Amino acid sequence: MISAPPGDGEDFFSSLEKVFSISENDIRVMIEDFHVEMGKGLFGDKSSLKMIPSFIDKPKGNEKGEFVALDLGGTNFRVLTVILDGKGNVTVPAASEFAIPRKHMRGTGVSLFDFIAGCVDTFLTENHIDRNKTHDLAFTFSFPVEQTSIAAGKLIAWTKGFTATGVQGRDVMVLLNEALKRIDIRCIHITALVNDTVGTLAAGSYSDPACDLGVIMGTGTNACYREALSNMEKLNVADRNGHMIVNIEWGNFDKVKPNAYDRSLDKTSVNPGAMYLEKMVSGMYLGEIARLVLMDLIGRELILVNKPHAAQYFQERGSFKTEDMSLIEGDKTGRLEGVTLFLERNGILNISLRDKTQFKRLCGIVSSRAARLGAAAISAVLTWMDPNLKDRHTVGIDGSLFEKHPGFSTKMTDVFKELYGQKSEKIALVHSKDGSGRGAAVIAAVAASSERNTKIN
Ligand code: GLC
Repeated sequence: MISAPPGDGEDFFSSLEKVFSISENDIRVMIEDFHVEMGKGLFGDKSSLKMIPSFIDKPKGNEKGEFVALDLGGTNFRVLTVILDGKGNVTVPAASEFAIPRKHMRGTGVSLFDFIAGCVDTFLTENHIDRNKTHDLAFTFSFPVEQTSIAAGKLIAWTKGFTATGVQGRDVMVLLNEALKRIDIRCIHITALVNDTVGTLAAGSYSDPACDLGVIMGTGTNACYREALSNMEKLNVADRNGHMIVNIEWGNFDKVKPNAYDRSLDKTSVNPGAMYLEKMVSGMYLGEIARLVLMDLIGRELILVNKPHAAQYFQERGSFKTEDMSLIEGDKTGRLEGVTLFLERNGILNISLRDKTQFKRLCGIVSSRAARLGAAAISAVLTWMDPNLKDRHTVGIDGSLFEKHPGFSTKMTDVFKELYGQKSEKIALVHSKDGSGRGAAVIAAVAASSERNTKIN
């Protein structure tokens, strides 16, 4: 797949490192391109960055109330109750997680939303939630949605492997409401439709007012930030004072050159030609890119030679996951016992230390590029807000890749050091836990109170 001089594995690995390298200069160019795309997206021109208005600003910290939060955005669907005490404390008294069967992810929209409503029903029953009272609900729907208000928005396109039919172009709040009604759940009042990045920013800024960027690095990747209304040309509002959180949808950024492995992955994905950055950075795809590299190495007889069982195992799409990569890269034992265990668990026995080392090395090459691209995207948004990095910025990040992948966060911080030297100390990456639950409830509280105020006025 890549042109490497014939010879030993070392030659190949050098070519591989080149093909996956993201130099400091590449990053600087990427930041400029990012700014151009952000500007176009805000203006309403064609851009790979959708720059979606969220119709909400950062919370103040005094939000109060009890909320039900729904979280749809990956392979699991979650339902939670969240309590905000008005003094900045958030508690989650109940939470349930439901694996979403593939037939609903990739079936019809009706079956997906019926599944969601069914989970809500189970949750209400199991937690003895009073159905005679109305409960405000925040719906974290982590896909690109063209929002028209805090509680309405149409799905632009599915991402992260979802393909449920009849949802694209429809208002997802209406679909949820209809599904709840079909099973006679009438005690829910949907208050807010929230992207997970927006919830993450809300949760992050609750504990740290300097948090002005919410980022997800998990199954997918994306970010939101606070924009001045005066810069949001495409938004038709009378009053241009103040700020609004903007969901960038940066996973779709398309100014990074894909290599042969990226192109191969894209071709076989459910959304070819879209979400280029996400396909290079996020947890849904990294394992698969590493698998494609591994298969190339196997094909060249540079690894796992005369191990037909291994070749057969890794032949299958999806057989190597990003969490496997995390395990392999996290193996610090001299003889790579963790890698041995992983291989043995999959029936692959008697692998040499050399092969295991090469396997670990190729994983590192793929994940390092992801971390550098992620850091480049963060740098782009920070310098959009504050070109000379005059202020301190806390970046609230959630997602398994950031949380669990060994060295990921350090590799990102290294990029800030490369780009900004001492000033990089002004950038703090902080794990903002559970924005899709806690943060979404905070947003729902802001929305509920402004709804009440509108009614009073
Ligand atoms: C995908 C979605 C986006 C979401 C991100 C992280 O990129 O399109 O809306 O925020 O995944 O979950």
